[in-house]
Amino acid sequence: MRIALSTGGGDAPGLNAVIRAAVLGAIDRGWDVLGVTKGYAGLLGEEDIVPLTRVTVRGIGHLGGTILRTTNRGNPFSYPVLQSDGSYKIVDRSDELIARASELGIEALISIGGDGSLSIAQQLTNKGMRVVGVPKTIDNDVSGTITTFGFDTAVQTALEAIDKLHTTAESHDRVFVLEVMGRNTGFIALHAGLAGSADVILIPEIPYDPERVCEKIVSRDLAGRHFSIVVMAEGAHEAGRAAGVLGASLPGQAVRVGGVAAQLAELIQERTGKESRSMVLGHLQRGGQPTGYDRLLATRFGGAAVRAVADAKWGHMVALQSPHIVTIPIEEALREQKRVDPNHDTVLTARATGVSFGD
Ligand code: F6P
Repeated sequence: MRIALSTGGGDAPGLNAVIRAAVLGAIDRGWDVLGVTKGYAGLLGEEDIVPLTRVTVRGIGHLGGTILRTTNRGNPFSYPVLQSDGSYKIVDRSDELIARASELGIEALISIGGDGSLSIAQQLTNKGMRVVGVPKTIDNDVSGTITTFGFDTAVQTALEAIDKLHTTAESHDRVFVLEVMGRNTGFIALHAGLAGSADVILIPEIPYDPERVCEKIVSRDLAGRHFSIVVMAEGAHEAGRAAGVLGASLPGQAVRVGGVAAQLAELIQERTGKESRSMVLGHLQRGGQPTGYDRLLATRFGGAAVRAVADAKWGHMVALQSPHIVTIPIEEALREQKRVDPNHDTVLTARATGVSFGD
Protein backbone atom coordinates (compact mmCIF):
# COMPACT_ATOMS: atom_id res chain seq x y z
CA MET A 1 0.00 0.00 0.00
CA ARG A 2 1.26 3.48 -0.84
CA ILE A 3 -0.39 6.49 0.77
CA ALA A 4 0.27 10.22 0.63
CA LEU A 5 -0.20 13.03 3.14
CA SER A 6 -0.87 16.69 2.49
CA THR A 7 -1.42 19.75 4.70
CA GLY A 8 -3.56 22.59 3.35
CA GLY A 9 -4.89 26.00 4.42
CA GLY A 10 -3.44 28.08 7.25
CA ASP A 11 -1.05 26.17 9.51
CA ALA A 12 -1.98 25.16 13.05
CA PRO A 13 0.19 23.93 15.91
CA GLY A 14 -0.05 20.13 15.89
CA LEU A 15 0.23 19.50 12.14
CA ASN A 16 3.65 17.92 12.56
CA ALA A 17 2.35 15.65 15.32
CA VAL A 18 -0.38 14.41 12.93
CA ILE A 19 2.21 13.78 10.20
CA ARG A 20 4.49 11.93 12.62
CA ALA A 21 1.74 9.67 13.98
CA ALA A 22 0.33 8.92 10.53
CA VAL A 23 3.73 8.13 9.04
CA LEU A 24 4.76 5.87 11.92
CA GLY A 25 1.34 4.19 11.95
CA ALA A 26 1.50 3.55 8.20
CA ILE A 27 5.07 2.25 8.34
CA ASP A 28 4.00 -0.03 11.18
CA ARG A 29 1.58 -1.64 8.69
CA GLY A 30 4.32 -2.01 6.11
CA TRP A 31 2.98 0.84 3.95
CA ASP A 32 4.97 3.31 1.94
CA VAL A 33 4.30 7.05 2.61
CA LEU A 34 4.78 10.08 0.37
CA GLY A 35 4.44 13.73 1.35
CA VAL A 36 2.74 16.17 -1.01
CA THR A 37 4.35 19.55 -0.38
CA LYS A 38 2.62 22.93 -0.22
CA GLY A 39 -1.03 21.89 -0.07
CA TYR A 40 -1.86 20.08 -3.29
CA ALA A 41 0.83 21.87 -5.33
CA GLY A 42 3.12 18.81 -5.15
CA LEU A 43 0.52 16.84 -7.09
CA LEU A 44 0.26 19.56 -9.72
CA GLY A 45 3.94 19.46 -10.61
CA GLU A 46 4.55 22.85 -8.99
CA GLU A 47 6.22 21.55 -5.83
CA ASP A 48 7.83 18.30 -4.71
CA ILE A 49 6.63 14.89 -3.66
CA VAL A 50 8.90 13.63 -0.89
CA PRO A 51 9.29 10.24 0.79
CA LEU A 52 8.20 10.25 4.43
CA THR A 53 10.17 7.84 6.58
CA ARG A 54 10.91 7.23 10.23
CA VAL A 55 13.91 9.52 9.82
CA THR A 56 11.92 12.35 8.20
CA VAL A 57 9.46 12.50 11.09
CA ARG A 58 12.01 12.10 13.86
CA GLY A 59 11.83 14.89 16.46
CA ILE A 60 9.00 16.88 14.86
CA GLY A 61 6.08 16.08 17.22
CA HIS A 62 6.64 19.16 19.38
CA LEU A 63 7.26 21.61 16.55
CA GLY A 64 4.79 24.18 15.22
CA GLY A 65 4.23 24.64 11.47
CA THR A 66 4.26 21.76 8.99
CA ILE A 67 7.27 20.04 7.46
CA LEU A 68 5.15 19.60 4.31
CA ARG A 69 4.51 23.39 4.05
CA THR A 70 1.08 24.69 3.19
CA THR A 71 -0.92 27.30 1.29
CA ASN A 72 -4.38 28.79 1.37
CA ARG A 73 -4.23 29.59 -2.36
CA GLY A 74 -4.02 26.17 -3.97
CA ASN A 75 -7.53 24.84 -4.55
CA PRO A 76 -7.05 22.43 -7.52
CA PHE A 77 -10.71 22.97 -8.52
CA SER A 78 -10.19 26.71 -8.89
CA TYR A 79 -6.47 27.18 -9.30
CA PRO A 80 -5.18 30.68 -10.14
CA VAL A 81 -2.96 30.38 -13.23
CA LEU A 82 -0.85 33.40 -14.21
CA GLN A 83 -1.52 34.55 -17.80
CA SER A 84 0.98 36.23 -20.14
CA ASP A 85 -0.72 39.62 -19.61
CA GLY A 86 -0.15 39.40 -15.84
CA SER A 87 -3.75 38.56 -15.01
CA TYR A 88 -4.88 35.31 -13.37
CA LYS A 89 -7.27 32.77 -14.85
CA ILE A 90 -9.08 30.35 -12.52
CA VAL A 91 -8.66 26.81 -13.86
CA ASP A 92 -9.95 23.37 -12.73
CA ARG A 93 -6.80 21.21 -12.42
CA SER A 94 -8.39 18.36 -10.45
CA ASP A 95 -8.14 15.80 -13.31
CA GLU A 96 -4.43 16.56 -13.63
CA LEU A 97 -4.01 16.03 -9.87
CA ILE A 98 -5.83 12.69 -9.89
CA ALA A 99 -3.82 11.47 -12.90
CA ARG A 100 -0.53 12.45 -11.22
CA ALA A 101 -1.52 10.66 -7.99
CA SER A 102 -2.28 7.49 -9.90
CA GLU A 103 1.01 7.74 -11.88
CA LEU A 104 2.82 7.89 -8.52
CA GLY A 105 0.97 4.77 -7.34
CA ILE A 106 -0.78 6.68 -4.55
CA GLU A 107 -3.66 4.48 -3.41
CA ALA A 108 -5.01 6.79 -0.71
CA LEU A 109 -4.53 10.37 0.42
CA ILE A 110 -4.77 11.70 3.98
CA SER A 111 -5.68 15.35 3.63
CA ILE A 112 -5.08 17.45 6.75
CA GLY A 113 -6.82 20.82 6.61
CA GLY A 114 -9.67 23.14 7.54
CA ASP A 115 -13.05 23.55 5.91
CA GLY A 116 -11.49 24.64 2.59
CA SER A 117 -9.18 21.60 2.36
CA LEU A 118 -11.93 19.27 3.59
CA SER A 119 -14.27 20.52 0.90
CA ILE A 120 -11.52 19.84 -1.70
CA ALA A 121 -11.14 16.36 -0.16
CA GLN A 122 -14.89 15.82 -0.59
CA GLN A 123 -14.80 16.93 -4.24
CA LEU A 124 -11.84 14.63 -4.94
CA THR A 125 -13.74 11.77 -3.28
CA ASN A 126 -16.71 12.54 -5.55
CA LYS A 127 -14.34 12.10 -8.51
CA GLY A 128 -13.29 8.66 -7.26
CA MET A 129 -10.10 9.48 -5.37
CA ARG A 130 -9.61 7.63 -2.08
CA VAL A 131 -9.30 10.37 0.53
CA VAL A 132 -9.52 10.50 4.33
CA GLY A 133 -9.65 13.88 6.07
CA VAL A 134 -8.09 15.18 9.27
CA PRO A 135 -9.74 18.41 10.49
CA LYS A 136 -7.44 21.29 11.36
CA THR A 137 -8.27 24.82 12.47
CA ILE A 138 -7.15 27.11 15.23
CA ASP A 139 -10.57 28.76 14.97
CA ASN A 140 -12.37 25.56 16.09
CA ASP A 141 -14.99 26.12 13.39
CA VAL A 142 -15.29 22.58 11.93
CA SER A 143 -18.54 20.79 12.84
CA GLY A 144 -18.72 17.16 13.93
CA THR A 145 -15.62 17.28 16.12
CA ILE A 146 -15.62 18.69 19.65
CA THR A 147 -12.39 20.47 18.87
CA THR A 148 -9.36 20.35 16.60
CA PHE A 149 -5.67 20.55 17.40
CA GLY A 150 -4.25 24.09 17.28
CA PHE A 151 -7.21 25.66 19.05
CA ASP A 152 -5.92 25.00 22.56
CA THR A 153 -2.50 26.43 21.65
CA ALA A 154 -4.09 29.53 20.12
CA VAL A 155 -6.22 30.07 23.23
CA GLN A 156 -3.13 29.70 25.42
CA THR A 157 -1.24 32.28 23.32
CA ALA A 158 -4.18 34.72 23.50
CA LEU A 159 -4.48 34.14 27.24
CA GLU A 160 -0.82 34.98 27.84
CA ALA A 161 -1.34 38.23 25.91
CA ILE A 162 -4.44 39.11 27.97
CA ASP A 163 -2.57 38.46 31.23
CA LYS A 164 0.26 40.74 30.11
CA LEU A 165 -2.09 43.47 28.90
CA HIS A 166 -3.94 43.35 32.22
CA THR A 167 -0.98 44.53 34.27
CA THR A 168 -0.06 47.40 31.97
CA ALA A 169 -3.72 48.41 31.52
CA GLU A 170 -4.21 48.55 35.27
CA SER A 171 -0.99 50.50 35.84
CA HIS A 172 -2.00 53.16 33.31
CA ASP A 173 -5.78 53.25 33.79
CA ARG A 174 -6.12 52.39 30.11
CA VAL A 175 -8.51 50.44 27.92
CA PHE A 176 -6.90 47.74 25.81
CA VAL A 177 -8.66 46.19 22.82
CA LEU A 178 -7.06 42.90 21.81
CA GLU A 179 -7.93 41.49 18.37
CA VAL A 180 -7.62 37.72 18.11
CA MET A 181 -8.19 35.37 15.16
CA GLY A 182 -11.62 34.04 14.24
CA ARG A 183 -12.96 35.22 10.91
CA ASN A 184 -16.46 33.75 11.31
CA THR A 185 -16.36 32.34 14.79
CA GLY A 186 -15.53 33.68 18.22
CA PHE A 187 -14.26 30.58 20.01
CA ILE A 188 -10.73 31.91 20.59
CA ALA A 189 -12.04 35.28 21.83
CA LEU A 190 -14.65 33.64 24.05
CA HIS A 191 -12.42 31.00 25.61
CA ALA A 192 -9.33 33.19 26.09
CA GLY A 193 -11.47 36.17 27.11
CA LEU A 194 -13.38 34.31 29.78
CA ALA A 195 -10.33 32.43 31.06
CA GLY A 196 -8.41 35.72 31.16
CA SER A 197 -11.18 37.69 32.94
CA ALA A 198 -11.78 40.13 30.08
CA ASP A 199 -14.45 42.76 30.68
CA VAL A 200 -15.86 42.80 27.17
CA ILE A 201 -15.83 39.93 24.62
CA LEU A 202 -16.95 40.64 21.06
CA ILE A 203 -17.60 37.77 18.67
CA PRO A 204 -19.10 37.49 15.16
CA GLU A 205 -22.01 35.42 16.49
CA ILE A 206 -23.23 38.28 18.74
CA PRO A 207 -23.17 41.60 16.82
CA TYR A 208 -22.33 44.46 19.15
CA ASP A 209 -23.36 48.03 19.76
CA PRO A 210 -20.37 50.30 20.55
CA GLU A 211 -22.56 52.27 22.98
CA ARG A 212 -23.02 49.16 25.13
CA VAL A 213 -19.25 48.56 25.08
CA CYS A 214 -18.61 52.16 26.23
CA GLU A 215 -21.29 51.85 28.94
CA LYS A 216 -19.50 48.85 30.40
CA ILE A 217 -16.16 50.68 30.42
CA VAL A 218 -17.68 53.80 32.02
CA SER A 219 -19.53 51.78 34.65
CA ARG A 220 -16.28 50.05 35.62
CA ASP A 221 -14.59 53.42 35.85
CA LEU A 222 -17.33 54.75 38.14
CA ALA A 223 -16.94 51.63 40.30
CA GLY A 224 -13.24 52.38 40.74
CA ARG A 225 -11.94 49.95 38.12
CA HIS A 226 -10.17 52.46 35.94
CA PHE A 227 -8.97 50.04 33.25
CA SER A 228 -10.76 47.59 30.96
CA ILE A 229 -9.81 44.71 28.70
CA VAL A 230 -11.80 44.13 25.52
CA VAL A 231 -11.10 40.92 23.59
CA MET A 232 -12.56 40.84 20.09
CA ALA A 233 -12.49 38.31 17.28
CA GLU A 234 -11.17 39.74 14.01
CA GLY A 235 -14.58 38.98 12.44
CA ALA A 236 -16.64 40.72 15.17
CA HIS A 237 -18.89 43.42 13.81
CA GLU A 238 -21.54 45.90 14.82
CA ALA A 239 -25.18 44.93 14.38
CA GLY A 240 -26.21 45.54 10.77
CA ARG A 241 -22.61 45.92 9.54
CA ALA A 242 -20.24 43.53 7.78
CA ALA A 243 -16.89 42.44 9.25
CA GLY A 244 -13.89 44.71 8.58
CA VAL A 245 -11.94 43.85 5.42
CA LEU A 246 -8.18 44.09 5.66
CA GLY A 247 -6.17 45.03 2.57
CA ALA A 248 -6.14 43.16 -0.70
CA SER A 249 -6.22 39.37 -1.07
CA LEU A 250 -4.01 37.50 -3.51
CA PRO A 251 -5.57 35.46 -6.35
CA GLY A 252 -7.27 32.33 -5.00
CA GLN A 253 -7.20 33.64 -1.41
CA ALA A 254 -10.21 34.27 0.86
CA VAL A 255 -11.02 37.84 1.87
CA ARG A 256 -8.83 38.94 4.79
CA VAL A 257 -10.81 40.24 7.74
CA GLY A 258 -9.66 42.33 10.71
CA GLY A 259 -8.38 45.76 11.63
CA VAL A 260 -11.36 46.14 13.94
CA ALA A 261 -9.53 46.61 17.25
CA ALA A 262 -7.84 49.85 16.18
CA GLN A 263 -11.16 51.34 15.07
CA LEU A 264 -12.92 50.33 18.26
CA ALA A 265 -10.13 51.62 20.52
CA GLU A 266 -10.31 54.99 18.77
CA LEU A 267 -14.07 55.12 19.17
CA ILE A 268 -13.88 54.16 22.87
CA GLN A 269 -11.33 56.93 23.53
CA GLU A 270 -13.47 59.48 21.70
CA ARG A 271 -16.69 58.55 23.48
CA THR A 272 -15.46 57.81 27.01
CA GLY A 273 -12.41 60.04 27.20
CA LYS A 274 -10.43 57.05 28.48
CA GLU A 275 -7.02 56.47 27.00
CA SER A 276 -7.36 53.42 24.76
CA ARG A 277 -4.88 51.23 22.90
CA SER A 278 -5.29 48.31 20.53
CA MET A 279 -3.25 45.26 19.70
CA VAL A 280 -3.56 42.65 16.97
CA LEU A 281 -2.26 39.26 18.07
CA GLY A 282 -2.39 37.91 14.49
CA HIS A 283 -0.28 34.98 13.38
CA LEU A 284 1.42 34.54 16.75
CA GLN A 285 -1.67 32.45 17.47
CA ARG A 286 -0.78 30.04 14.69
CA GLY A 287 2.87 29.65 15.67
CA GLY A 288 4.92 28.04 18.37
CA GLN A 289 4.92 24.67 20.03
CA PRO A 290 1.57 22.91 20.35
CA THR A 291 0.31 22.49 23.92
CA GLY A 292 0.28 18.99 25.40
CA TYR A 293 -3.45 18.76 24.69
CA ASP A 294 -2.96 19.63 21.01
CA ARG A 295 0.01 17.29 20.58
CA LEU A 296 -1.97 14.41 22.01
CA LEU A 297 -5.10 15.17 19.96
CA ALA A 298 -3.05 15.59 16.77
CA THR A 299 -1.24 12.31 17.42
CA ARG A 300 -4.56 10.52 18.02
CA PHE A 301 -5.96 12.03 14.80
CA GLY A 302 -2.91 10.88 12.82
CA GLY A 303 -3.17 7.33 14.15
CA ALA A 304 -6.94 7.22 13.58
CA ALA A 305 -6.54 8.50 10.00
CA VAL A 306 -4.30 5.53 9.16
CA ARG A 307 -6.89 3.15 10.65
CA ALA A 308 -9.58 4.91 8.58
CA VAL A 309 -7.52 4.26 5.43
CA ALA A 310 -7.12 0.59 6.43
CA ASP A 311 -10.92 0.44 6.88
CA ALA A 312 -11.49 2.13 3.48
CA LYS A 313 -13.43 5.03 5.03
CA TRP A 314 -13.16 7.13 1.89
CA GLY A 315 -14.76 10.58 2.14
CA HIS A 316 -14.67 10.40 5.94
CA MET A 317 -12.73 12.49 8.41
CA VAL A 318 -11.55 11.68 11.89
CA ALA A 319 -13.29 13.59 14.68
CA LEU A 320 -13.16 13.92 18.45
CA GLN A 321 -16.39 12.84 20.03
CA SER A 322 -15.11 12.45 23.56
CA PRO A 323 -13.83 10.18 24.82
CA HIS A 324 -13.40 8.58 21.39
CA ILE A 325 -11.93 9.46 18.03
CA VAL A 326 -14.55 8.47 15.45
CA THR A 327 -14.90 8.86 11.70
CA ILE A 328 -17.76 10.84 10.15
CA PRO A 329 -18.60 11.68 6.52
CA ILE A 330 -16.80 14.87 5.50
CA GLU A 331 -20.06 15.95 3.87
CA GLU A 332 -21.74 15.90 7.28
CA ALA A 333 -19.04 18.07 8.84
CA LEU A 334 -19.24 20.57 6.00
CA ARG A 335 -23.03 20.97 6.12
CA GLU A 336 -22.78 23.79 8.61
CA GLN A 337 -19.84 25.71 10.01
CA LYS A 338 -19.48 25.33 13.77
CA ARG A 339 -20.15 28.66 15.51
CA VAL A 340 -20.53 29.82 19.09
CA ASP A 341 -24.05 29.16 20.34
CA PRO A 342 -25.12 32.37 22.14
CA ASN A 343 -26.99 30.17 24.63
CA HIS A 344 -23.99 27.96 25.36
CA ASP A 345 -23.05 27.66 29.03
CA THR A 346 -19.72 29.40 28.37
CA VAL A 347 -21.57 32.52 27.16
CA LEU A 348 -24.12 32.32 29.98
CA THR A 349 -21.37 32.00 32.59
CA ALA A 350 -19.46 34.88 31.03
CA ARG A 351 -22.55 37.08 31.23
CA ALA A 352 -23.24 35.96 34.81
CA THR A 353 -19.71 36.93 35.84
CA GLY A 354 -20.16 40.43 34.43
CA VAL A 355 -18.72 40.12 30.93
CA SER A 356 -20.37 42.38 28.36
CA PHE A 357 -20.86 41.07 24.81
CA GLY A 358 -21.74 44.56 23.69
CA ASP A 359 -25.37 43.62 23.03
O1 F6P B 1 -8.56 30.00 9.50
C1 F6P B 1 -7.63 30.33 10.45
C2 F6P B 1 -7.27 31.76 10.39
O2 F6P B 1 -6.40 31.84 11.46
C3 F6P B 1 -8.40 32.80 10.50
O3 F6P B 1 -8.84 33.05 11.78
C4 F6P B 1 -7.74 34.01 9.88
O4 F6P B 1 -8.70 34.89 9.35
C5 F6P B 1 -6.93 33.40 8.80
O5 F6P B 1 -6.54 32.12 9.25
C6 F6P B 1 -5.74 34.23 8.42
O6 F6P B 1 -5.09 33.61 7.38
P1 F6P B 1 -3.87 34.21 6.55
O7 F6P B 1 -2.70 33.40 6.95
O8 F6P B 1 -4.24 34.02 5.14
O9 F6P B 1 -3.71 35.65 6.94
